[in-house]
Amino acid sequence: MTFKITVLPGDGVGPEVSREAVRILEALGHFYDCQFRFEEKLIGGAAIRAEGTPLPKSTLDACLDSDAVFLGAVGSPEFDHLTPNARPEAGLLALRTALGGFANLRPAPSFPSIAECSPLKAWALEGADVLIVRELLGGLYFSEPRGTDPGREAAFNTMRYSVPEIERVARVAFEQARQRRKKLTSVDKANVLETSQLWRRTVNQVAKDYPDVAVDHMYVDACAMHLISNPKRFDVIVTENLFGDILSDEAAVITGSLGMLASATIGGTVDLYEPVHGSAPDIAGKGVANPLGAIASAAMLLRHSAGMPHEAADLEAAIRQVLEAGHRTSDLVRDGRGHVVGTREMGSLVEQVFAGLLDRRFSYHAV
Ligand code: IPM
Ligand code: MN
Repeated sequence: MTFKITVLPGDGVGPEVSREAVRILEALGHFYDCQFRFEEKLIGGAAIRAEGTPLPKSTLDACLDSDAVFLGAVGSPEFDHLTPNARPEAGLLALRTALGGFANLRPAPSFPSIAECSPLKAWALEGADVLIVRELLGGLYFSEPRGTDPGREAAFNTMRYSVPEIERVARVAFEQARQRRKKLTSVDKANVLETSQLWRRTVNQVAKDYPDVAVDHMYVDACAMHLISNPKRFDVIVTENLFGDILSDEAAVITGSLGMLASATIGGTVDLYEPVHGSAPDIAGKGVANPLGAIASAAMLLRHSAGMPHEAADLEAAIRQVLEAGHRTSDLVRDGRGHVVGTREMGSLVEQVFAGLLDRRFSYHAV
């Protein structure tokens, strides 16, 4: 059996970090009859340069015809002058819409071995493990009307949500909470926004089907504060698109670096995996980007799309072990601590540990 993954390296550091994630999945393929088959396609600025559009049809067709999609990053300062619908980011937004995944899972666990990378105090970090479930296809990003007035002196976007849109992402969040510490915080701005009042009412309605999960509600401004002052109070957070975009970057502070954060977008026809970080043009092409967010996204792919939860856990354990052994990409170096490695070396270190863990798993099953 083959499992087809369309790889969209994209812009900036995207190609560098994607390569490491692919290398890890290839290593896994050696242990199974099931082989991963990869097909690379253009997206974002790279696609605009080559084909004049951020999401070429051949890219979209390949994505729709695959078992999972893996994306590096999109965005380039070269296109900063363009309107939103012509920029590299528009390619990603159109892809998300076409694939249909409405629930974007962004886990932010703490990593004790790199605790010094976080500005948070050790007591605040210890045991912190937050999962943000971001609604990905609605809200301010997509609602109509949107635009700029003819005189270009005013512009507008709309935030609109319907009950079914809120319900389906709430269900994903409740299911996730059920598999974790059974706590769900729904984040909104219900003291100001009608969409948030609808959000709150709908989450409470869905909550009736999940009596084992404790629900609370929090305003987004308060959540932004609590997330860094006391991250341990959170288990799963569910929130609308833009709030989730902002809070997930903030949650990176728990892990120690934005380069550590992974994501999975599920619920549509094909699931999409991407590190949370951007294209980081300032360090692109230098071989120093942190590939661990991309590799952790590959672990999420194994769990959610490939039906390999044990292998996903092994890969996450491999990431932790490499950090515990003191290896650091430059974003993870504080106070001169650790052994500095580049993108490729970090990838091969994880691959080696991962292969060792898989070896053990296979010889265990063989006895
Ligand atoms: C993210 C990114 C994207 C978003 C951009 C690149 C369109 O910031 O995945 O968080 O805003 O969703
Ligand atoms: Mn973002």
